[in-house]
Amino acid sequence: MPQLCVMPGDGIGKEVIPAALQVLQEVIPDLETVPAEAGWACFEKHGVSVPQETLDAITACGAALFGAVSSPSRKVKGYRSAILTMRQALDLYANLRPVRSLPHISPAQGIDFLVVRENTEGMYAQREHRDGDTAIAERVITRAASLRIGQVAVDLAAQRDRKLLTIVHKANILPVTDGLFRDCVREAAADYPMVVVDELLVDIACLKVVSEPKRYDVIVTTNLFGDIISDVASYWAGGMGYAPSINIGRDAVLAEPVHGSAPDIAGQGIANPIAAILSAALLVRYAWQNEEGAVRIEEAVRAFLKTSGQDVLAGKLGTSAITDGVLKQL
Ligand code: NAD
Ligand code: IPM
Ligand code: MN
Repeated sequence: MPQLCVMPGDGIGKEVIPAALQVLQEVIPDLETVPAEAGWACFEKHGVSVPQETLDAITACGAALFGAVSSPSRKVKGYRSAILTMRQALDLYANLRPVRSLPHISPAQGIDFLVVRENTEGMYAQREHRDGDTAIAERVITRAASLRIGQVAVDLAAQRDRKLLTIVHKANILPVTDGLFRDCVREAAADYPMVVVDELLVDIACLKVVSEPKRYDVIVTTNLFGDIISDVASYWAGGMGYAPSINIGRDAVLAEPVHGSAPDIAGQGIANPIAAILSAALLVRYAWQNEEGAVRIEEAVRAFLKTSGQDVLAGKLGTSAITDGVLKQL
Protein backbone atom coordinates (compact mmCIF):
# COMPACT_ATOMS: atom_id res chain seq x y z
CA MET A 1 0.00 0.00 0.00
CA PRO A 2 1.51 3.43 -0.92
CA GLN A 3 2.31 5.56 2.13
CA LEU A 4 2.64 9.32 2.28
CA CYS A 5 3.97 11.52 5.06
CA VAL A 6 1.89 14.74 5.00
CA MET A 7 3.25 18.02 6.40
CA PRO A 8 1.02 21.03 5.71
CA GLY A 9 3.46 23.33 7.56
CA ASP A 10 2.52 26.98 8.05
CA GLY A 11 0.22 29.59 6.47
CA ILE A 12 -1.46 28.55 3.22
CA GLY A 13 0.29 25.17 3.46
CA LYS A 14 -2.59 24.26 5.78
CA GLU A 15 -5.05 25.13 3.01
CA VAL A 16 -3.42 23.85 -0.18
CA ILE A 17 -2.10 20.53 1.17
CA PRO A 18 -5.55 19.20 2.21
CA ALA A 19 -6.75 20.21 -1.28
CA ALA A 20 -3.94 18.31 -2.99
CA LEU A 21 -4.58 15.34 -0.72
CA GLN A 22 -8.21 15.18 -1.82
CA VAL A 23 -7.05 14.89 -5.43
CA LEU A 24 -4.39 12.29 -4.56
CA GLN A 25 -6.87 10.15 -2.66
CA GLU A 26 -9.16 10.11 -5.68
CA VAL A 27 -6.35 8.85 -7.94
CA ILE A 28 -4.68 6.53 -5.37
CA PRO A 29 -7.64 5.23 -3.33
CA ASP A 30 -5.52 2.90 -1.16
CA LEU A 31 -3.11 5.70 -0.15
CA GLU A 32 -2.20 5.59 3.54
CA THR A 33 -1.33 8.99 5.01
CA VAL A 34 0.88 9.70 8.01
CA PRO A 35 0.60 13.25 9.40
CA ALA A 36 3.78 14.96 10.62
CA GLU A 37 4.91 18.34 11.88
CA ALA A 38 7.45 20.70 10.33
CA GLY A 39 7.83 24.47 10.15
CA TRP A 40 7.75 27.60 12.24
CA ALA A 41 4.75 26.68 14.39
CA CYS A 42 6.47 23.36 15.03
CA PHE A 43 9.64 25.22 16.09
CA GLU A 44 7.65 27.42 18.49
CA LYS A 45 6.05 24.32 19.99
CA HIS A 46 8.97 21.88 20.08
CA GLY A 47 12.06 24.10 19.68
CA VAL A 48 12.97 22.40 16.40
CA SER A 49 11.60 23.02 12.88
CA VAL A 50 11.78 19.36 11.87
CA PRO A 51 11.56 16.83 14.72
CA GLN A 52 13.42 13.53 14.33
CA GLU A 53 10.02 11.73 14.30
CA THR A 54 9.12 13.67 11.16
CA LEU A 55 12.36 12.67 9.41
CA ASP A 56 11.77 9.06 10.45
CA ALA A 57 8.18 9.17 9.16
CA ILE A 58 9.31 10.50 5.77
CA THR A 59 11.92 7.76 5.44
CA ALA A 60 9.47 5.07 6.58
CA CYS A 61 6.89 6.22 4.00
CA GLY A 62 9.44 6.90 1.26
CA ALA A 63 7.24 9.76 0.04
CA ALA A 64 6.19 13.10 1.51
CA LEU A 65 4.04 16.09 0.66
CA PHE A 66 5.02 19.38 2.22
CA GLY A 67 3.20 22.74 2.19
CA ALA A 68 5.36 25.68 3.22
CA VAL A 69 7.06 27.24 6.18
CA SER A 70 7.14 30.81 7.44
CA SER A 71 10.79 31.49 8.08
CA PRO A 72 11.61 34.71 9.92
CA SER A 73 13.91 37.05 7.99
CA ARG A 74 15.93 37.71 11.16
CA LYS A 75 18.28 35.18 12.74
CA VAL A 76 16.49 33.17 15.43
CA LYS A 77 18.69 31.12 17.72
CA GLY A 78 18.27 27.40 17.10
CA TYR A 79 15.99 27.84 14.10
CA ARG A 80 16.82 26.46 10.68
CA SER A 81 14.46 26.44 7.68
CA ALA A 82 12.42 23.25 7.74
CA ILE A 83 12.70 22.61 4.03
CA LEU A 84 16.48 23.04 4.01
CA THR A 85 16.74 20.75 7.02
CA MET A 86 14.74 18.04 5.26
CA ARG A 87 16.64 18.38 1.96
CA GLN A 88 19.94 17.99 3.74
CA ALA A 89 19.02 15.43 6.41
CA LEU A 90 17.38 13.15 3.82
CA ASP A 91 19.90 13.93 1.07
CA LEU A 92 17.17 14.99 -1.36
CA TYR A 93 19.74 15.85 -3.98
CA ALA A 94 17.65 16.64 -7.06
CA ASN A 95 14.94 19.27 -7.19
CA LEU A 96 12.75 19.01 -10.30
CA ARG A 97 10.75 22.11 -11.18
CA PRO A 98 8.71 21.72 -14.36
CA VAL A 99 7.40 24.82 -16.14
CA ARG A 100 4.45 24.31 -18.48
CA SER A 101 1.93 26.65 -20.07
CA LEU A 102 -1.59 26.27 -18.70
CA PRO A 103 -4.81 27.18 -20.56
CA HIS A 104 -5.94 30.81 -19.99
CA ILE A 105 -3.55 31.26 -17.07
CA SER A 106 -0.18 31.41 -18.80
CA PRO A 107 1.09 34.49 -20.65
CA ALA A 108 1.95 32.24 -23.65
CA GLN A 109 1.06 28.73 -24.76
CA GLY A 110 3.45 25.94 -25.82
CA ILE A 111 6.13 26.46 -23.17
CA ASP A 112 7.36 23.24 -21.60
CA PHE A 113 10.70 22.93 -19.87
CA LEU A 114 12.18 21.49 -16.72
CA VAL A 115 14.58 23.06 -14.24
CA VAL A 116 16.79 20.46 -12.53
CA ARG A 117 18.32 22.11 -9.47
CA GLU A 118 21.21 20.64 -7.49
CA ASN A 119 19.72 20.60 -4.01
CA THR A 120 22.39 19.88 -1.41
CA GLU A 121 25.39 22.18 -1.78
CA GLY A 122 26.54 25.35 -3.57
CA MET A 123 25.68 28.48 -1.59
CA TYR A 124 23.24 26.39 0.46
CA ALA A 125 26.20 24.85 2.27
CA GLN A 126 25.63 28.05 4.29
CA ARG A 127 29.30 28.38 5.13
CA GLU A 128 29.34 32.02 6.09
CA HIS A 129 31.64 33.80 8.45
CA ARG A 130 32.57 37.26 9.45
CA ASP A 131 36.12 38.51 9.71
CA GLY A 132 35.96 42.02 11.09
CA ASP A 133 34.34 44.15 8.41
CA THR A 134 34.54 41.37 5.85
CA ALA A 135 31.76 38.80 5.47
CA ILE A 136 32.58 35.64 3.51
CA ALA A 137 30.36 32.92 2.05
CA GLU A 138 31.92 29.74 0.69
CA ARG A 139 30.31 27.96 -2.22
CA VAL A 140 30.77 24.20 -2.15
CA ILE A 141 30.71 22.16 -5.37
CA THR A 142 31.71 18.51 -5.29
CA ARG A 143 32.39 16.07 -8.07
CA ALA A 144 30.01 13.49 -6.54
CA ALA A 145 27.02 15.84 -6.26
CA SER A 146 27.64 17.34 -9.71
CA LEU A 147 27.89 13.92 -11.35
CA ARG A 148 24.70 12.67 -9.73
CA ILE A 149 22.65 15.76 -10.62
CA GLY A 150 24.08 15.54 -14.14
CA GLN A 151 22.96 11.91 -14.29
CA VAL A 152 19.41 12.80 -13.19
CA ALA A 153 19.19 15.67 -15.69
CA VAL A 154 20.51 13.76 -18.69
CA ASP A 155 18.27 10.79 -17.88
CA LEU A 156 15.24 13.08 -17.85
CA ALA A 157 16.37 14.85 -21.02
CA ALA A 158 16.69 11.49 -22.79
CA GLN A 159 13.04 10.73 -21.95
CA ARG A 160 11.75 13.98 -23.46
CA ASP A 161 10.94 14.74 -27.10
CA ARG A 162 13.58 17.38 -27.73
CA LYS A 163 16.42 15.84 -25.72
CA LEU A 164 18.21 19.13 -25.15
CA LEU A 165 20.14 19.62 -21.93
CA THR A 166 21.33 23.15 -21.08
CA ILE A 167 23.96 23.52 -18.35
CA VAL A 168 23.60 26.90 -16.65
CA HIS A 169 26.66 28.16 -14.76
CA LYS A 170 29.01 31.09 -14.23
CA ALA A 171 32.31 29.39 -15.04
CA ASN A 172 33.70 32.62 -16.51
CA ILE A 173 34.09 34.06 -13.02
CA LEU A 174 33.92 30.86 -10.97
CA PRO A 175 36.05 28.52 -13.12
CA VAL A 176 37.02 26.26 -10.22
CA THR A 177 33.56 25.57 -8.77
CA ASP A 178 31.32 26.04 -11.79
CA GLY A 179 34.00 24.63 -14.08
CA LEU A 180 33.86 21.41 -12.05
CA PHE A 181 30.07 21.42 -12.12
CA ARG A 182 29.95 21.90 -15.90
CA ASP A 183 32.61 19.26 -16.59
CA CYS A 184 30.88 16.70 -14.37
CA VAL A 185 27.50 17.22 -16.04
CA ARG A 186 29.18 16.80 -19.44
CA GLU A 187 30.86 13.64 -18.16
CA ALA A 188 27.51 12.21 -17.01
CA ALA A 189 25.97 13.12 -20.36
CA ALA A 190 28.74 11.47 -22.38
CA ASP A 191 26.93 8.11 -22.23
CA TYR A 192 23.83 9.65 -23.85
CA PRO A 193 24.67 10.45 -27.47
CA MET A 194 20.99 11.07 -28.21
CA VAL A 195 20.96 14.10 -25.84
CA VAL A 196 22.28 17.39 -27.19
CA VAL A 197 24.16 19.27 -24.46
CA ASP A 198 24.73 23.00 -24.55
CA GLU A 199 25.62 25.56 -21.91
CA LEU A 200 24.84 29.16 -21.02
CA LEU A 201 26.17 31.63 -18.50
CA VAL A 202 23.52 32.27 -15.87
CA ASP A 203 22.98 35.94 -16.71
CA ILE A 204 22.16 35.40 -20.38
CA ALA A 205 20.31 32.20 -19.44
CA CYS A 206 17.94 34.33 -17.33
CA LEU A 207 17.32 36.75 -20.17
CA LYS A 208 16.47 33.81 -22.43
CA VAL A 209 14.05 32.39 -19.86
CA VAL A 210 12.21 35.67 -20.27
CA SER A 211 12.69 36.33 -24.00
CA GLU A 212 12.97 32.84 -25.54
CA PRO A 213 11.41 30.34 -23.10
CA LYS A 214 10.75 27.86 -25.92
CA ARG A 215 14.48 27.48 -26.49
CA TYR A 216 14.71 25.37 -23.31
CA ASP A 217 14.00 21.71 -22.74
CA VAL A 218 15.93 20.68 -19.59
CA ILE A 219 18.04 23.15 -17.59
CA VAL A 220 20.52 21.77 -15.06
CA THR A 221 22.18 24.13 -12.64
CA THR A 222 23.64 24.68 -9.19
CA ASN A 223 21.51 25.26 -6.10
CA LEU A 224 21.17 29.06 -5.88
CA PHE A 225 20.94 29.63 -9.64
CA GLY A 226 18.22 26.95 -9.74
CA ASP A 227 16.34 28.67 -6.92
CA ILE A 228 16.33 31.99 -8.76
CA ILE A 229 15.72 30.66 -12.28
CA SER A 230 12.78 28.54 -11.13
CA ASP A 231 10.96 31.55 -9.65
CA VAL A 232 11.56 33.57 -12.82
CA ALA A 233 10.45 30.64 -14.98
CA SER A 234 7.24 30.16 -12.97
CA TYR A 235 6.02 33.33 -14.68
CA TRP A 236 5.36 31.24 -17.81
CA ALA A 237 3.03 28.87 -15.99
CA GLY A 238 1.12 31.71 -14.36
CA GLY A 239 3.11 32.58 -11.26
CA MET A 240 3.70 31.07 -7.85
CA GLY A 241 0.21 29.57 -7.58
CA TYR A 242 1.08 27.27 -10.50
CA ALA A 243 4.67 26.17 -9.83
CA PRO A 244 5.13 22.58 -8.60
CA SER A 245 8.30 20.82 -7.49
CA ILE A 246 9.65 17.58 -6.17
CA ASN A 247 12.83 16.87 -4.19
CA ILE A 248 14.30 13.48 -4.99
CA GLY A 249 16.69 11.40 -2.91
CA ARG A 250 17.75 7.77 -2.87
CA ASP A 251 15.50 6.78 0.03
CA ALA A 252 12.68 9.31 -0.15
CA VAL A 253 11.00 11.90 -2.35
CA LEU A 254 9.29 15.05 -1.10
CA ALA A 255 6.91 17.10 -3.22
CA GLU A 256 6.18 20.76 -2.42
CA PRO A 257 4.78 23.77 -4.21
CA VAL A 258 7.55 26.28 -4.99
CA HIS A 259 5.64 29.05 -3.19
CA GLY A 260 5.94 29.90 0.50
CA SER A 261 3.41 30.28 3.30
CA ALA A 262 1.91 33.50 1.84
CA PRO A 263 1.08 35.16 5.18
CA ASP A 264 -0.64 38.01 3.29
CA ILE A 265 -3.49 35.71 2.19
CA ALA A 266 -3.33 32.86 4.74
CA GLY A 267 -6.56 31.84 6.46
CA GLN A 268 -8.83 33.46 3.89
CA GLY A 269 -9.63 30.41 1.77
CA ILE A 270 -8.30 32.12 -1.36
CA ALA A 271 -4.92 30.39 -1.82
CA ASN A 272 -4.54 28.73 -5.18
CA PRO A 273 -4.14 24.96 -4.64
CA ILE A 274 -2.97 24.20 -8.21
CA ALA A 275 0.78 24.33 -7.45
CA ALA A 276 0.18 21.84 -4.63
CA ILE A 277 -2.07 19.65 -6.81
CA LEU A 278 0.54 19.59 -9.60
CA SER A 279 3.19 18.74 -6.96
CA ALA A 280 0.99 15.80 -5.94
CA ALA A 281 1.01 14.70 -9.59
CA LEU A 282 4.83 14.70 -9.45
CA LEU A 283 4.63 12.39 -6.44
CA VAL A 284 2.44 10.00 -8.39
CA ARG A 285 4.99 10.05 -11.23
CA TYR A 286 8.26 9.92 -9.26
CA ALA A 287 7.36 8.25 -5.94
CA TRP A 288 5.07 5.56 -7.27
CA GLN A 289 6.11 5.46 -10.95
CA ASN A 290 2.44 5.81 -11.93
CA GLU A 291 2.70 7.88 -15.10
CA GLU A 292 -0.93 7.33 -16.00
CA GLY A 293 -2.12 8.64 -12.62
CA ALA A 294 0.16 11.68 -12.85
CA VAL A 295 -1.11 12.56 -16.32
CA ARG A 296 -4.68 12.09 -15.09
CA ILE A 297 -4.17 14.80 -12.46
CA GLU A 298 -2.32 17.13 -14.86
CA GLU A 299 -5.00 16.74 -17.52
CA ALA A 300 -7.77 17.34 -14.95
CA VAL A 301 -6.07 20.63 -13.99
CA ARG A 302 -5.83 21.62 -17.67
CA ALA A 303 -9.44 20.67 -18.38
CA PHE A 304 -10.62 22.66 -15.35
CA LEU A 305 -8.60 25.72 -16.41
CA LYS A 306 -9.92 25.46 -19.99
CA THR A 307 -13.44 25.96 -18.72
CA SER A 308 -12.85 28.07 -15.59
CA GLY A 309 -9.43 29.69 -16.06
CA GLN A 310 -10.95 33.13 -16.67
CA ASP A 311 -12.84 32.92 -13.37
CA VAL A 312 -9.67 31.85 -11.55
CA LEU A 313 -7.79 34.79 -13.07
CA ALA A 314 -10.58 37.16 -12.05
CA GLY A 315 -10.24 35.91 -8.47
CA LYS A 316 -13.79 34.56 -8.44
CA LEU A 317 -12.84 31.07 -7.19
CA GLY A 318 -11.32 30.20 -3.82
CA THR A 319 -9.31 27.17 -2.69
CA SER A 320 -12.26 24.81 -2.32
CA ALA A 321 -14.01 25.87 -5.55
CA ILE A 322 -10.80 25.27 -7.53
CA THR A 323 -10.24 21.92 -5.81
CA ASP A 324 -13.83 20.81 -6.50
CA GLY A 325 -13.44 21.92 -10.12
CA VAL A 326 -10.31 19.78 -10.58
CA LEU A 327 -11.91 16.81 -8.78
CA LYS A 328 -14.86 16.97 -11.19
CA GLN A 329 -12.51 16.65 -14.18
CA LEU A 330 -10.67 13.58 -12.87
P1 NAD B 1 5.36 33.43 -0.92
O1 NAD B 1 5.55 32.45 -2.02
O2 NAD B 1 4.80 32.93 0.35
O3 NAD B 1 4.40 34.61 -1.47
C1 NAD B 1 4.75 35.49 -2.53
C2 NAD B 1 3.48 36.13 -3.11
O4 NAD B 1 2.78 35.13 -3.88
C3 NAD B 1 2.50 36.60 -2.06
O5 NAD B 1 1.85 37.78 -2.50
C4 NAD B 1 1.49 35.48 -1.96
O6 NAD B 1 0.21 35.88 -1.54
C5 NAD B 1 1.48 34.94 -3.39
N1 NAD B 1 1.21 33.49 -3.41
C6 NAD B 1 2.08 32.51 -3.10
N2 NAD B 1 1.49 31.31 -3.22
C7 NAD B 1 0.22 31.54 -3.62
C8 NAD B 1 -0.89 30.70 -3.90
N3 NAD B 1 -0.82 29.36 -3.80
N4 NAD B 1 -2.06 31.28 -4.27
C9 NAD B 1 -2.15 32.61 -4.38
N5 NAD B 1 -1.12 33.46 -4.15
C10 NAD B 1 0.04 32.93 -3.75
O7 NAD B 1 6.77 34.14 -0.68
P2 NAD B 1 7.21 35.26 0.37
O8 NAD B 1 6.08 36.20 0.61
O9 NAD B 1 8.50 35.75 -0.12
O10 NAD B 1 7.49 34.46 1.72
C11 NAD B 1 6.52 34.27 2.74
C12 NAD B 1 7.05 33.26 3.75
O11 NAD B 1 7.22 31.98 3.12
C13 NAD B 1 8.44 33.62 4.30
O12 NAD B 1 8.45 33.32 5.67
C14 NAD B 1 9.40 32.73 3.53
O13 NAD B 1 10.55 32.41 4.25
C15 NAD B 1 8.55 31.51 3.31
N6 NAD B 1 8.90 30.70 2.13
C16 NAD B 1 8.83 29.35 2.29
C17 NAD B 1 9.05 28.51 1.21
C18 NAD B 1 8.96 27.05 1.45
O14 NAD B 1 8.54 26.64 2.49
N7 NAD B 1 9.33 26.22 0.50
C19 NAD B 1 9.31 29.06 -0.07
C20 NAD B 1 9.37 30.45 -0.21
C21 NAD B 1 9.13 31.27 0.89
C1 IPM C 1 12.53 27.24 -2.53
C2 IPM C 1 12.59 28.20 -1.36
C3 IPM C 1 13.63 27.73 -0.36
C4 IPM C 1 14.99 27.76 -1.04
C5 IPM C 1 13.66 28.56 0.92
C6 IPM C 1 12.32 28.59 1.60
C7 IPM C 1 14.69 28.06 1.90
O1 IPM C 1 12.85 29.49 -1.81
O2 IPM C 1 12.19 26.06 -2.30
O3 IPM C 1 12.77 27.64 -3.66
O4 IPM C 1 15.70 28.77 -1.00
O5 IPM C 1 15.36 26.73 -1.61
MN1 MN D 1 12.95 29.63 -4.00
